[in-house]
Amino acid sequence: MTVAHKINDIMAKSSWIRKMFEEGARLKAEHGADKVFDFSLGNPNLPPPEKFNEILRDTVDSCGLGDHCYMPQAGYPQVCVSIADYLTTEQGIPITCDEIIMTCGAAGALNVIFKALLDPGDEVLTPTPCFVEYRFYADNHGGVLKMVSTRPDFTLDLDALGDAITEKTKVVLINSPNNPTGQIYSKASFEKLSSTTHRCRPFSRATAKASSLPPTPRTSPYPANGSVLPRSIPPPSIKRR
Ligand SMILES: Cc1ncc(COP(=O)(O)O)c(C=O)c1O
Repeated sequence: MTVAHKINDIMAKSSWIRKMFEEGARLKAEHGADKVFDFSLGNPNLPPPEKFNEILRDTVDSCGLGDHCYMPQAGYPQVCVSIADYLTTEQGIPITCDEIIMTCGAAGALNVIFKALLDPGDEVLTPTPCFVEYRFYADNHGGVLKMVSTRPDFTLDLDALGDAITEKTKVVLINSPNNPTGQIYSKASFEKLSSTTHRCRPFSRATAKASSLPPTPRTSPYPANGSVLPRSIPPPSIKRR
């Protein structure tokens, strides 16, 4: 089968983390799961809270035909309202349901955002190390991922970010808590970053920031041990119709 040159190239450079995960699965099958320590993917190391399973079972048990039909483009309005309420409390700023669009995961969300914002050749700035798929998300929509080094402790290097902004910069993509470093960027660095990107706005035309940063991790309903759970599991306050 003929595969596009670009895809061939991407496959050759595909994520080592994935390859290690697959190798881990192979080794576990060969030697037993208790003999292999798998530090590849950030899988949760805790089961979900029983309440989550309970609500999931209840949701499935009470499903009607309407639950299997097409939904409004932005998602079920009552879900958007619940999420807006949750984010308003969690982030401490007013957010309405009109500002919520439901997607299938963070990859879906970022692809929609990039499709909406990027013209060919536009740059997406992100601190590195970063999630390896960001390069592909930007490329999917004609953009170019530009990685900017962080400090040795993986905090934001605001001078480097400021210097990297050019007339091609369309997006500054911030992932916090960061995958893979686990670094949670400070409020002060966000404030400084805001003023940096604000200063550059005439050049950068538009700046979007994506973050799953909980402002008070200790009171968060999620275990504060990674970025996967908060993004993947809907807030517990979400109610179905
Ligand atoms: C930082 C980051 N962005 C995006 C994604 C993709 O997220 P999803 O699986 O929700 O599409 C992940 C997945 O691990 C991630 O860690």
